[in-house]
Amino acid sequence: MAFFSRRWYWLLVQILVAVYTIASVGYLIYRPRNPWNAPHEEEGESIVGRISRKQPNYYVTGPRDNPKQLTIHLPAPGNTTTRVNAGFVVLVRNSELSGMLGSMYDVESRFNRKYNYPWLFLNNEPFTEEFKQRTSQATNAKTYYGFVDSSMWSYPPWINQSFAAESREMMAELPYGDSESYRHMCRFQSGFFWRHPLLLELGWEYYWRVEPDVRYFCELDYDPFVYMKENGKQYAFTISFIENIDTVPSLWNAVRRFAKESASKGKDHFKLKAKDSLHRFVTDARAEEYNACHFWTNFEIARVDLWHTDAYKEFFDYLDMDGGFFYERWGDAPVHSIFASLYLRKDEVHYFHDIGYQHSTYQHCPESEELQSRCYCDPVNTLDYTDPMSCLNQYMYALDEDSPGTDETVGDLLVAA
Ligand SMILES: *[C@@H]1O[C@H](CO)[C@@H](O)[C@H](O)[C@H]1NC(C)=O
Ligand SMILES: *[C@@H]1O[C@H](CO)[C@@H](O)[C@H](O)[C@H]1NC(C)=O
Repeated sequence: MAFFSRRWYWLLVQILVAVYTIASVGYLIYRPRNPWNAPHEEEGESIVGRISRKQPNYYVTGPRDNPKQLTIHLPAPGNTTTRVNAGFVVLVRNSELSGMLGSMYDVESRFNRKYNYPWLFLNNEPFTEEFKQRTSQATNAKTYYGFVDSSMWSYPPWINQSFAAESREMMAELPYGDSESYRHMCRFQSGFFWRHPLLLELGWEYYWRVEPDVRYFCELDYDPFVYMKENGKQYAFTISFIENIDTVPSLWNAVRRFAKESASKGKDHFKLKAKDSLHRFVTDARAEEYNACHFWTNFEIARVDLWHTDAYKEFFDYLDMDGGFFYERWGDAPVHSIFASLYLRKDEVHYFHDIGYQHSTYQHCPESEELQSRCYCDPVNTLDYTDPMSCLNQYMYALDEDSPGTDETVGDLLVAA
């Protein structure tokens, strides 16, 4: 008995050793490759690019219960034959270097390493050598560093600075309500960055505004500048938001007074038929009140010359004279958005649903099935159509709204209001 059991015992051990050896060899040959260590198959192809699915030809978006969905057709990926004279523009402080590098990392890895558009950094203090060195190392593209002098960053002579200081105290409860530099920043972003000498020297046709500490979640394989140019787009956003109306209590009145006063001088800046504009994104059917909706300008792609139009320059000068940048806390986002919604045709404004983006705690993460595999974010956390802070439903409504039977212009509405 003992003889047999020892023999069986040895056989069992031999079988186990054989199975183990075969399994090990099999594993070594067929083991799953760890994609993070695998060599790149093609020069320039990123690990991220290997994991995500290919760019779709189109995507669809719209409020979940809305039968009218928006379909956007995308250009072929990786096409760099056509270029636009364009680049990134950033207003940033030296102290925001690490947040800036974070933003650049996302922009570069998701998009710009394939396109190499230049970066223009602006600051109301001189940039440090460290800032210049670190940011220029973060991209293969050219970087430019510009100084914002007091002609673009100071109180204009007509502003009563003691009254401005009192107003800041009164508004201390609001976000940035007591901040003086925030006000200079909003005024600069409204009225000056687009005529900064360095930007004019570069001669850019389009710009893409980037801020420190933002995130870009999605792979972008086509050139949004070319897309905008070829499709006649002047202004583009990715998040629309509702402003705290207490920061801009008298802004809409100033807008209407501007329209009236220019009309009385024979200058109608808002000649577009109301039904062809996006006016319903920012106001009611009779243009009586501002609804506080705006495009978030911390991401913005637009034509530089949109702000060089007589209409916008006079609009900005009027608002600037009115003092609300300092006596209230007018943001560049409501200022840009109101103008774009009153001045541009619906089809000249573009919603980049495919650009997943986060600023502060709010994020837009595409819900469209076609895009999800290309984005490193969770669409559950998107504010688009469900969050009360989002104005995307209002935008979709304004796109559809066509006031049948009325031929009134935006100017008519503003003057009558
Ligand atoms: C690249 O883009 C240009 C301009 O949009 C277009 O004319 C051309 O056909 C595109 N090439 C490819 C291969 O898609
Ligand atoms: C400036 O504002 C202060 C504070 O509100 C006020 O007392 C003063 O009269 C104002 N000055 C002018 C010239 O209006």
